[in-house]
Amino acid sequence: MSNIGIFVGSVYGNAQNVAEDVQSMLAAKGLDSKLYKDPSVADFQAASSVIVISSTTGQGDIPPNLEFFIEDLRQQFPLMANKPFAVAGLGDSSYGETYCGAGRQIFDLLSELQGKPVADLLEVDACETLEPEVEVVKWLQELVSEFN
Ligand SMILES: Cc1cc2nc3c(=O)[nH]c(=O)nc-3n(C[C@H](O)[C@H](O)[C@H](O)COP(=O)(O)O)c2cc1C
Repeated sequence: MSNIGIFVGSVYGNAQNVAEDVQSMLAAKGLDSKLYKDPSVADFQAASSVIVISSTTGQGDIPPNLEFFIEDLRQQFPLMANKPFAVAGLGDSSYGETYCGAGRQIFDLLSELQGKPVADLLEVDACETLEPEVEVVKWLQELVSEFN
């Protein structure tokens, strides 16, 4: 049975809204998922596939609610053994070089942990869209067959 972990990093709620819509979309397709705002490494290891939806804060930084989790992953380095993953980064291209910095950090980390990216990092630009959930849900709909 699928047990997709949706890990959300959000400061003002945009990424959280996106993650909730993604969970509804997966449920409509009969796929079980769990949404984590304050995840542990054990939650990450329990997931059969990993979806991360994270905004960027500060200057290319991970949102505070995921900071310790990402730090723990870096320290404990739980190898993913080809577990499928997808990362959607919410950002704002007016931030220039730090655009979607958190999404990029997370994508790189999951690649180092030897997960299997089912797609390149999706960068969702607040300058381009007011409905990030539409973009992310559409993108993931095409990828669901890749998730265990
Ligand atoms: C204080 C602050 C800092 C931000 N820094 C960045 C940044 O460095 N890079 C980026 O791409 N977006 C940055 N953003 C834009 C947010 O990532 C974007 O607005 C996102 O949609 C917020 O989603 P959230 O509500 O889930 O936190 C920043 C926004 C704020 C308010």
